[in-house]
Amino acid sequence: MRAPQSVAEGSTVAEHRATGASGDTIVDLRSDTVTRPTAGMREAMATAEVGDDVYGEDPTVNALEAEVAALFGHEAALLAPTGSMANQIALQLVVPPAHELLCDADAHVVTYEIGAAAAYGGISSRTWPAVGGDVAPDVVAAMVRPDGYWAVPTRAIAVEQTHNRGGGGVIPLTTLHALRRIADDAGVALHCDGARIWHAHVAEGVPLAEYGALFDTLSVCLSKGLGAPVGSLVIGSAEHIERARYVRKRLGGGMRQAGVLAAAGRYALAHHVSRLAEDHAKAARLAEAIAPFGLLATTVRTNIVPLDLTKASLDAHALAAAARAEGVLVSVLGPRTARLVTHLDVDDAGIDRAVAVLTRILSR
Ligand SMILES: Cc1ncc(COP(=O)(O)O)c(C=O)c1O
Repeated sequence: MRAPQSVAEGSTVAEHRATGASGDTIVDLRSDTVTRPTAGMREAMATAEVGDDVYGEDPTVNALEAEVAALFGHEAALLAPTGSMANQIALQLVVPPAHELLCDADAHVVTYEIGAAAAYGGISSRTWPAVGGDVAPDVVAAMVRPDGYWAVPTRAIAVEQTHNRGGGGVIPLTTLHALRRIADDAGVALHCDGARIWHAHVAEGVPLAEYGALFDTLSVCLSKGLGAPVGSLVIGSAEHIERARYVRKRLGGGMRQAGVLAAAGRYALAHHVSRLAEDHAKAARLAEAIAPFGLLATTVRTNIVPLDLTKASLDAHALAAAARAEGVLVSVLGPRTARLVTHLDVDDAGIDRAVAVLTRILSR
């Protein structure tokens, strides 16, 4: 039997709707992936010009790829169905089989991608201890292993911007520059899992091209906070992306009339990036309400509010169950770790409701 999804303890949103409190709409704070396409986005999808993208003939996909490459100041980009596939394609570009990737122990690539780097890329991964979203460059530098027959040689370092399990933390530019120097000195690649790099860009005011210039490869998602139903991109040099097209096909990610998805992505880039500031403000409101209970795992910087329930009277499952009974969905990341995520389908009234419900539960 499939283990229940931690986020909603195995029940679907429809079930929550059926049993939710007094007919109120559900306030779904599990993830920023639960958004539904807006009317404008659906219109863009319905009217998209399409072609066969495996032949390279979908004009909307081609336009999206060119647009995203330009945003990050790189030569090329490639649309993939998911962020996981985009990461795995990028890792295969920079780490040959039987070579090593370094990343933090909470990174999505080693936590949630089901061993794909090893299974599909023959990649060996070694991790540094996760400290929220922070990275200590000297720790990373000390881990890099040179070529030689006695140990697995390091070929790439990966960071996550913003950091999902790190509570939406943003890695500062100074740290990224230090990592770039370390990578250059060691002759290894630097990859960014930028599923939510848009959030860092909006929170810090750092231009996307400035982030782009620091990395050999990036993956970015259109379906985390930007509101597209599907779609991530691998970004890099023309040479890398030519090879990425081949790796994507091998992974089964070559899509045909994908312009309907690319149109949603283009719409999201045009309409849903700067509004992320509203999601950050909503997360800050949630954090402010919860702060007096002493349960915030870290300072809230973007759209993720991580809860450390070690000292709370109830554990994460109990909190999620109690909140669910009142129509608020919370994500369970571990026995005493929970998470709230704001996004474009939660409005101010929803945040008010979540604050009322969660503070009531935590006060018991
Ligand atoms: C940081 C990060 N990277 C990659 C992914 C993978 O995206 P997908 O679910 O589209 O495979 C996620 C998903 O939430 C994520 O949070």
